[in-house]
Amino acid sequence: MENGKATLTIGNENWDFDIHDGTVGPSVIDIGSLYQKTGRFTYDPGFTSTGSCSSSITYIDGDEGVLLYRGYPIDELAENKDFLEVAYLLLYGELPTPEEKQDFDFRVTHHTMVHEQMSRFFTGFRRDAHPMAIMCGVVGAMSAFYHDSTDIRDPYQRMVASIRLIAKTPTIAAMAFKYSTGQPFVYPKNALDYAANFMHMCFAVPCEEYQVNPILSRAMDRIFILHADHEQNASTSTVRLAGSSGANPFACIAAGIASLWGPAHGGANEAALDTFAEIGTVDRVPEYIDKAKDKDDPFRLSGFGHRVYKSYDPRAKVMERTCHEVLDELGIKDPLLKVAMELERIALTDEYFVERKLYPNVDFYSGITLRALGFPNNMLTVLFAVARTVGWVAQWKEMVEDEQRIGRPRQLYTGSTLRHMTT
Ligand code: CMC
Repeated sequence: MENGKATLTIGNENWDFDIHDGTVGPSVIDIGSLYQKTGRFTYDPGFTSTGSCSSSITYIDGDEGVLLYRGYPIDELAENKDFLEVAYLLLYGELPTPEEKQDFDFRVTHHTMVHEQMSRFFTGFRRDAHPMAIMCGVVGAMSAFYHDSTDIRDPYQRMVASIRLIAKTPTIAAMAFKYSTGQPFVYPKNALDYAANFMHMCFAVPCEEYQVNPILSRAMDRIFILHADHEQNASTSTVRLAGSSGANPFACIAAGIASLWGPAHGGANEAALDTFAEIGTVDRVPEYIDKAKDKDDPFRLSGFGHRVYKSYDPRAKVMERTCHEVLDELGIKDPLLKVAMELERIALTDEYFVERKLYPNVDFYSGITLRALGFPNNMLTVLFAVARTVGWVAQWKEMVEDEQRIGRPRQLYTGSTLRHMTT
């Protein structure tokens, strides 16, 4: 590879391909003309070496454990900014001025109510439905309720849809929670900030006053910041792929929610908490470490390992601090925290985990923190979806504005060759 060109040699033939450099991170070989030139496709089913787009939103250096939103380190944002400032940054590329912040906060706050008819939509679900199932359905149904913001070619409609998604997803998530508990829905309160309003909608009941604890709502806000975007992960790529066909943003975000649900992705926080509970006590940790290492056992230590991070996930560090803050504030001594800390201690020194560069990821401590805040296990991935909505929206908007062509991967066909029916 030299002079911004990569040469591919097959047999006696050579072809040149351009190399594009980003502002930081690995450069890419542009193989868009590969098929036309060579009659061959590339093959990379898990996309381990494939850049699917160019983007200026989020940067990850997995070896160094770096995560930047629009250039700012995640820990600086989590310590110094609130979720809506980070949302503004992801959407528009810069942190808001005080006036821009006021205007953005006002617009999001005044879009938090959902169409009243949507509340009747919920009663079609079984009470014991998983709240992620409800999220997939109801967020997708926003296309039907907010038809006036589904024309993706109109910048104004794109902006309205973006604000609606960021504003209403927490309301829908809180409704899914309330529905599962049999309690009445609680309307948004405009006097509260984004995270406090969400907690109020989840935990208030009409028969008594509910005061949101500012330390806890700050922790909630920080958890939202940590999950807000993460480059071209499975759910974000799903949103982009769905959007590349011209589908409306509500449908695309519903597709992202479906992808997030899996235990290898956003479902890992729920799975991690289930595992800690199954282990139960510190003395059983070695047994589960052995299970995770056993090739004949499908068990994986949820909340450990990452496709991109080959060092400590920078979000996990902030999450661990937040976890201790929340437990201290509430005076909770959660035995699962002890189990988690012991798991982490052993895994970080165990040859199997060290060799494979498996470290705790963001989901490792988020479950314990959210449980202490009062959320049941099945709400954990929902909270991830609430936070990630802004990342999905920012990535969808960038894709539409870049006028990316429809995403259409090819395949290595391994089925029957042409054959005919015998009659
Ligand atoms: N426990 C035990 N072994 C593991 C784990 C784990 N959590 N993760 C990876 N490994 C092993 C795996 O068996 C393989 O070993 P070998 O080379 O001997 O076959 C090696 O490490 C590489 O694993 P991989 O499956 O090839 O790696 P991947 O990049 O395809 O998978 C992952 C990444 C996150 C899906 C995986 O680490 C995993 O399943 N972790 C548990 C689920 C989890 O915590 N997911 C949340 C990710 S962070 C939040 C998010 O972005 O959604």
